[in-house]
Amino acid sequence: MKPKVLLTRRIPSSALATLEEACDVDRNDGDALTPDQLLSRVRDKQGIVCLLTDAITPDVMDAAPGLKVVANVAVGYNNIDIAAASARGIVVTNTPEVLTEATADLAWALIMDVTRRVSEGDRLIRRDGWKGWALDFMLGTELSGKTLGIIGYGRIGRAVAARAVPFGLRVIHSDVQAVPGSGAIPIDRLLATSDIVSIHCPLTPETRHLINQAALARMKRSAYLINTSRGPVVDEKALAWALKNGIISGAGLDVYEDEPNVHRDLMTLENVVLAPHLGSATMETRTAMADLAVRNAIAVLTGQSPLTPVS
Ligand code: GLV
Repeated sequence: MKPKVLLTRRIPSSALATLEEACDVDRNDGDALTPDQLLSRVRDKQGIVCLLTDAITPDVMDAAPGLKVVANVAVGYNNIDIAAASARGIVVTNTPEVLTEATADLAWALIMDVTRRVSEGDRLIRRDGWKGWALDFMLGTELSGKTLGIIGYGRIGRAVAARAVPFGLRVIHSDVQAVPGSGAIPIDRLLATSDIVSIHCPLTPETRHLINQAALARMKRSAYLINTSRGPVVDEKALAWALKNGIISGAGLDVYEDEPNVHRDLMTLENVVLAPHLGSATMETRTAMADLAVRNAIAVLTGQSPLTPVS
């Protein structure tokens, strides 16, 4: 008998075909499952292939006594209670590596957009507000010679740093958990010296609201904040305050505290670029993520080692 797997959302057909060949798949093709729907559909399952929008709580795990694997189609796994999974012997996997380049590209799209006011200009044109070329019109900030500060110098942080070289930026970095000899500097120093701060750390209890009012106040008034990690790493209310009051110059965000809701004040500000969580959203990367998650689930359910376990 094939192992039973709950697939919580649509995935590319190639990955679905692989999963269906090896497993008996209960798939949800509609909107995200509610917590109650998740609880009732998981009961007889040995595996879950899920997205970052699914909260895999201890209750979900307890509802499925035969659960062996939770395969997240994401590199971040703050939607899964890892301690509860370990305590129950459930393997949790994620999708590192395959989304590094796409996410680094998106961080750069936000850097370029906010420093050169591209989206702001687009909005101006669409409301018929462009009155013509002028020497001092919509001036932005040059990148060459500036300092890019990266918080969280893992795979994605390093890929963002690599792209900075041709732009002539100096790169500095901080780690949330100090790694001796890594060249990391304290976060406070990074905040005070960077012209652009880009966040690439995971969301943990330690990094929740890492960028709060005090952190923003440490940044240069001319600096920009970019977040493609997880929304709650930044206190959105404090960020809106900083953007409104000229405490920093601008921000580029791909992630939010309560997705898909965005803090109302941010929606009214011109100096912030808002992307709807698109970090890994390329055809190639999303397909690779789904394939990897499916291969992880199948590996565990057929008694092999997972390819990319989280712990
Ligand atoms: C996307 O945000 C991911 O964690 O993969």
